[in-house]
Amino acid sequence: MTKRVVILGSTGSIGQNALRVVAEHPGAFEVVGLTAHASVEALARQALAVRPRRVAIGDAAQAGALAQRLAGSGIAVEAGPDGVAAVAAMDADVVLVAITGAAALSPALAAIRRGRTIALANKETMVIAGRLMRAEAAQHQAALVPVDSEHCAIFQCLDGKPRRHVQRLMLTGSGGPLKDVPLERFDALSREEVLNHPRWRMGPKISVDSATMMNKGLEVIEARWLFDVPASQVEVLIHPEAVVHSMVEFIDGSVLAQLGVTDMRIPIQHALTYPDRLPTSLPALDLAAIGRLTFERPDRAKFPCLSFGYAAAEADGTAPAVLNAANEACVQAFLDGQIPLTTIPRTIEAVLAHHRVAPSPALDDVVAADRWARDEAARRWRNGA
Ligand SMILES: NC(=O)c1ccc[n+]([C@@H]2O[C@H](COP(=O)([O-])OP(=O)(O)OC[C@H]3O[C@@H](n4cnc5c(N)ncnc54)[C@H](OP(=O)(O)O)[C@@H]3O)[C@@H](O)[C@H]2O)c1
Repeated sequence: MTKRVVILGSTGSIGQNALRVVAEHPGAFEVVGLTAHASVEALARQALAVRPRRVAIGDAAQAGALAQRLAGSGIAVEAGPDGVAAVAAMDADVVLVAITGAAALSPALAAIRRGRTIALANKETMVIAGRLMRAEAAQHQAALVPVDSEHCAIFQCLDGKPRRHVQRLMLTGSGGPLKDVPLERFDALSREEVLNHPRWRMGPKISVDSATMMNKGLEVIEARWLFDVPASQVEVLIHPEAVVHSMVEFIDGSVLAQLGVTDMRIPIQHALTYPDRLPTSLPALDLAAIGRLTFERPDRAKFPCLSFGYAAAEADGTAPAVLNAANEACVQAFLDGQIPLTTIPRTIEAVLAHHRVAPSPALDDVVAADRWARDEAARRWRNGA
């Protein structure tokens, strides 16, 4: 049966890979909706290739240019955040949420409230509003199928097993591009060195998060909500080969792991086809050629952002939203050349320390905490954190 697919954030790294998965399986998928933020040309090219019913561009100022590029194609053009949410709510079997950052929250909720299967690549939504996302998904019978490779691995290892059998989730991480770079050099690193991930080719935001290890901090909170376990039961292990994508330890000491080649098309395809599977044209995993798999504990002193993830999960309430927003603001400032890398953890720590956590926040509280944290982060780095 052909699955109707909406891809939110189709012009990004995950979105483009999703379209490659679709192209590899003629007849398996029909792309009915695509969205981007401002990449008019890339979105128009994708739309003319896969012929969705609707597209949306988040930056409303680009709507005219997009409509002009798609004139006569019969493809409807939406614009602005409401337009993106309208495409998210389209009639579809699966909605891939591959918008980066907190901007994905509103479209993700729009799709959840329609009871769609959500292929969730975006991690920030689960971090800032995990409790709400879970509750809405349960209420509207929307399935949340993770795309993040670690969570996809855990999802497959759990495969419906009861939570009372779970002892620990073990999230693996390659260690990022700075694993072996001395801390003293961090402030002198160029944007290119920081974005040069040893194993994965990803968008700029998540690449900086990998360098600071905030990515693992966010993933701990994401796992806490996706799998309904306390953060204290989520362990992070550095695994430079990035072959074991994550593991689950059960109460009888058995450990299940999911392994695979390092290519995001595998977890993307898993989420788009779930609960079915389709073949892949990717090379098979050759463990003999890899030879050795190694694991080590993360260096929490060098990468404090990991500890901030645990602390925010423990504080709960609005703390994870503040962590995420302060991080998003700092990462953008780093990418824009405004601050050096080490200002990121210093600023986040200060913002978290000054946040008064609101317990059991509603969506409005999360949005207010997000806004406060962005302003507070900017104020702090301008004043030398
Ligand atoms: N890349 C990976 O391998 C990977 C792995 C695991 C998880 N993830 C998660 O998946 C998400 C996407 O990552 P990515 O690496 O694919 O990011 P990316 O390459 O930066 O792409 C982001 C996509 O979202 C769109 N977008 C950005 N801001 C938006 C806004 N305000 N409103 C509407 N659309 C917006 C972008 O459109 P424009 O092109 O027009 O800017 C683009 O299509 C992130 O949450 C990331 O943490 C990624």
